[in-house]
Amino acid sequence: MKAIVTAIAHHVPPDVYDNNWFTKRIDTTDEWIQTRTGIKERHFAFEGGLTDILLPAAQEVLRQRGITADEIDCIIVATVTPDRVFPSSAAILQHKLGAKNAWGFDLSGACSGFLYALVTGAKMIEAGAAKKMLVLGGDKMSAILNFDDRTTCVLFGDGGGAVLLEPSESDDYGVVDHILRMDGAGEVHLHQKAGGSLRPPTIETVTNREHFVYQEGQAVFKSAVKGMADVSYEIMERNHLTADDVAWLIPHQANLRIIDATAERMGLSKDKVMINIERFGNTTAGTIPICLSELYQTDRVKRGDYLVLSSFGAGYTWGSVLLRWSIDKKEKA
Ligand code: ACO
Repeated sequence: MKAIVTAIAHHVPPDVYDNNWFTKRIDTTDEWIQTRTGIKERHFAFEGGLTDILLPAAQEVLRQRGITADEIDCIIVATVTPDRVFPSSAAILQHKLGAKNAWGFDLSGACSGFLYALVTGAKMIEAGAAKKMLVLGGDKMSAILNFDDRTTCVLFGDGGGAVLLEPSESDDYGVVDHILRMDGAGEVHLHQKAGGSLRPPTIETVTNREHFVYQEGQAVFKSAVKGMADVSYEIMERNHLTADDVAWLIPHQANLRIIDATAERMGLSKDKVMINIERFGNTTAGTIPICLSELYQTDRVKRGDYLVLSSFGAGYTWGSVLLRWSIDKKEKA
């Protein structure tokens, strides 16, 4: 038995902020942002919480599959920007959605959060512990961005997506394989200084602006290029797939140059690499479900396609998932 994706959707807040919005506030240029990252614009929601971004995606998943919220067994929300430290955003979303029979939890894996959650959900399905898992990845990065810090604030956006995982008797489709890695030594290069139990909020932490993303970009860049390329290549190799067999690489959207290096290592041509960083920036746990959802919406993925999902983020956390696509849109129509 395998876990298959039976519905997928995404949501981003409606308000769009292009690079020129930043040039009026900080010392940056549209040219710097585009050439160093690939980003042209991103969406921010300055009101509401993460679950307000995820709720429309979750509702659309239910609508697509033709089920009611009370049929959901379990909800996993991958995020580093939950509505509150507690209760979990999974609990808040469960209530908003009306999924009264679901339990669930949040999962903190930063940019790899969605892959960690997808694999966790798939394993629960394979173990028979759940039949309808709602797996979501998303972040409201605007909540933890220092809009005076040009080295970080231009990189991120708000958004997220949701998939429904269900069991399939056939072994032909679904989550085929995964490689998930972590190296906590990366903490020094990418973290949020205050707000957790180590450094609880005080007037001092707020004055010092310690509740925001702290990133040493170059150090993270070097590890990301190697980490994402390594696991993406390794998952192809150990499943005996060549570049011709892979329909799409769906990479975490942090930086176009990291994505290019990963595709090159896999021997994939550019037309097989899903990229939307120019419109959304880095939505952290949201990038991969948003990419997957856009591919599906625009009819660029068909049943049987081999998809390699790969990511690198804070922790460090990184990984790849080999997913054999299971939904045939034509059959559904
Ligand atoms: N506008 C103009 N100049 C800038 C900006 C800006 N927005 N930001 C930085 N600069 C300047 C720097 O100050 C530096 O100037 P200096 O040479 O005078 O000191 C110069 O540009 C070069 O800065 P670098 O940091 O070396 O630029 P780099 O090419 O490395 O690009 C970036 C920076 C985009 C952050 C890149 O390092 C990167 O993508 N890193 C990886 C990000 C990532 O993958 N993060 C993981 C996921 S996020 C998560 O998990 C939450």
